[in-house]
Amino acid sequence: MADWPDFRAKSASSARGTGAISYENDSNSSNPTLAQALRDAAARGLDRLDAQILLLHALGRPAHERAWLLAHDTDPLSEGAAATFAALSQRRVAGEPVAYLLGEKEFHGLTLAVDPRVLVPRPDTETLVDWALDCLKDVAAPAVLDLGTGSGAIALALQQARPDAQVHAVDASPDALAVARGNAERLGLAVRFRQADWLEGTAAAQPGGYALIVSNPPYIAEGDAHLPALRHEPTGALVSGADGLDDIRRIVAQAPAHLVEGGWLLLEHGHDQAPAVRALLTARGLADVQSRDDLAGIARCSGGVWRAVK
Ligand SMILES: C[S@@+](CC[C@H](N)C(=O)[O-])C[C@H]1O[C@@H](n2cnc3c(N)ncnc32)[C@H](O)[C@@H]1O
Repeated sequence: MADWPDFRAKSASSARGTGAISYENDSNSSNPTLAQALRDAAARGLDRLDAQILLLHALGRPAHERAWLLAHDTDPLSEGAAATFAALSQRRVAGEPVAYLLGEKEFHGLTLAVDPRVLVPRPDTETLVDWALDCLKDVAAPAVLDLGTGSGAIALALQQARPDAQVHAVDASPDALAVARGNAERLGLAVRFRQADWLEGTAAAQPGGYALIVSNPPYIAEGDAHLPALRHEPTGALVSGADGLDDIRRIVAQAPAHLVEGGWLLLEHGHDQAPAVRALLTARGLADVQSRDDLAGIARCSGGVWRAVK
C-alpha cells in the first residue's frame, strides 16, 4: 500500500505560559493561598472551572482533582506555581482555549496532545465516532478513512475501539499531521496518515474501497459571527466558503467513488446545515440519508450509505 506510508513524527510539545501577576495576599504567608489565587483569577474575569483546571495544571496535578483543591484551599501557592498560574490565567482571559494551555484534550477516552496547529477536538464530535462505530459493528476488519484528521481524534478513537480496522487519515496541513502522528505514536495506535487535499490523488489508496468515510471538515461560513471567538484555532480547520459548505460539497462529490457497496459516508456539520447536507448526500445518490443529534440535541452529523447497485 505504497500510497499510505506508515510514517510518523514526534508529538507536539505542550504550550505553557510565562510571566507574572502579583497577588493580593490576606494570609500570614508571603504567598497567596489556593483560594486567594482562585478569587484573584475570578476578579480578572476567568471562569471558575477554567481557573480550577489551570491552577491544578500549575500545581502539576491532573484536571480531575478539583476536590483536592477544595480540601487544600488554605495551602500557600509557591512562587513558581503562582507565576505559572498567573500567566496561564492571562492567556485564558485573552481567549486561548484551555486545551492549548494544558497541551492536551480528552476525546472518546483518549488523551490527545493538542496545540495551535490543530482544532481542539470537541465533545460533540464523539457523536460522530459513536455513529461510525455503529455503522461498523457488523463489518469485520473494516477499512476506514478519516478526512481532515487534525489531531487525529476521530481516526485514533476508531482505531482504539476497533483494533481490527485498517484506519487511514488525511489532512491538508502538514502541521496538523505532525500532531496526529505524534498522538498515534504515543498511544501506540497504527493509523496511517497522509497529506492530501481531501480525496485528490487517492484513487489507488484502498483497493476495494472503504467501509466508512468519516469527516469533521471545516464548515463555518466566511464572516460568521462566531469566528472571532475561535481566532486561536487554525482558520484552515474552520472556514469553508461563503455558506460554510464548500468542503462538504467536495467531500460528498468525491467520497462515493472510494466506498465499498454498502459503505457509509458520515459528516459533521454546523447546527443549521443538516437539511442542506442531507440534500447534498441525496443528490449524490447516497441512500438511507439521515442525521444524528449532538449532546445538545441538535442535528450535527449527517450521513448516508452508498449502494452502487440501485
Ligand atoms: C474541523 S477540523 C477537524 C479536526 C479533527 N478531525 C477533529 O474532529 O477534531 C478540519 C480539518 O480539516 C483539515 N482540512 C481543511 N481543508 C482540507 C483539505 N482540503 N483536505 C484535507 N484536509 C483539510 C484541516 O487542516 C483540519 O485539520
